[in-house]
Amino acid sequence: MTIDHTALPDDFLWGTATSAYQIEGAVAEDGRSPSIWDTFSHTPGTTDNGDHGDTACDHYHRWREDIDLMRRLGTNAYRLSVAWPRVVPGGDGPVNPKGLDFYDRLVDGLLAAGITPSVTLYHWDLPQTLQDRGGWPVRDTAEHFAAYASVVAERLGDRVHHWATLNEPLCSAWIGHLEGRMAPGLTDLTAAVRASYHLLLAHGLATRALRAAAPGAQVGIVNNLSTIHPASDTPEDRAAALRMDGHTNRWWLDPVHGRGFPADMREVYGVELPERPGDLTTIAAPLDWLGLNYYFPQVVTADPEGPAPRAVLVRRDGVPRTGMDWEIDPTGIETLLLRLTHEYGARRLYVTENGSAFPDTVRPDGTVDDPERRSYLEDHIAACASAARKGAPLAGYFAWSLLDNFEWAYGYDKRFGLVHVDYSTLARTIKASGHRYAEIIRAHGKRTGQAD
Ligand code: FCB
Repeated sequence: MTIDHTALPDDFLWGTATSAYQIEGAVAEDGRSPSIWDTFSHTPGTTDNGDHGDTACDHYHRWREDIDLMRRLGTNAYRLSVAWPRVVPGGDGPVNPKGLDFYDRLVDGLLAAGITPSVTLYHWDLPQTLQDRGGWPVRDTAEHFAAYASVVAERLGDRVHHWATLNEPLCSAWIGHLEGRMAPGLTDLTAAVRASYHLLLAHGLATRALRAAAPGAQVGIVNNLSTIHPASDTPEDRAAALRMDGHTNRWWLDPVHGRGFPADMREVYGVELPERPGDLTTIAAPLDWLGLNYYFPQVVTADPEGPAPRAVLVRRDGVPRTGMDWEIDPTGIETLLLRLTHEYGARRLYVTENGSAFPDTVRPDGTVDDPERRSYLEDHIAACASAARKGAPLAGYFAWSLLDNFEWAYGYDKRFGLVHVDYSTLARTIKASGHRYAEIIRAHGKRTGQAD
């Protein structure tokens, strides 16, 4: 597919994305406390090969080299997350200046390289101390998150203007508390629904805190959404698709847009929300932008006896898939960008994550050829441009990920990077897809007259 660069604005952000626990390592350095992901990944049987983030990509020490890689890719933006357990190791209470110093240096390094930082405050690494006090199912956690957001914004807000409160609260709530495949590893519907509520409350409280601490902050939230298709035309499958849409998309979008929690899903879950007067207004605090993480479409069928949402994914044959076994469908990203535009009236959109894992190897000549990832990247960027052409106010695209990294329960085997990481030496090698990304960015610059 060709990319219609004229549909994308001149000041488009071309970025890469990472998250703290997936790349930083240095888990016991400079006062960082354990997060729920340290605990979870060190619990036998939770991750492939028993992998954990103790060293990860050692970005905590190699961040200068990593900024240099971003520069070589020609990116003008970078989405990073701040580790709450580095900054407020107790979850609440005393601030750890050394933790803040790390992000301070990183932000200065990015700005010096002409790269706009986009900071996410929570990418799943809840301080373990807060988990011990009840975690997201408990309301206090939301209050502590807002206090932590203020601390970070007070320190970085003079230089960081793009802020995201949460990354993919769906995963924290549903995968972490209902399916048990991610930290904290619970399988409890009541805990999951309460967690989802407090995550969104935390988002609203933090939005307010960010605006107070850093006037002019551009605040958004990052959701992983999917296009949902019924496996057949039966009323059962169509109803299942509607439930999955509620579970995956509407539960996270509606409350933030002042529509409250979807009534059909409240009924499906059958769990009372821990609602207090004023919460819905807090959750619906006006936002400057919405972030979309898009990876794959979902084809679902009814699962009447299964857990909420009583719908499961169907594995279709003959469909192209990534190394995660996820279906590849670039039209999904266009559909979702247009849905956010038309159904939710989004004023500014970013694709905050999009990418693919394939098993890569470094060839004897030192190069990494990854044609499948290259096509995935091209086709999805082309679909983004098509959405923009049709009216989606798309202001940036962040490829997941800058580096191969700790892919949560899948450990290090699933490689999403535009840059290959050799985990025995930690050597970085730009893959062919990374070089292709640089070319795409250059082509856009040429069309807007910014580059050679
Ligand atoms: C998203 C996560 C990100 C990464 C990608 C592959 O769900 O936000 O950390 O794991 O998937």
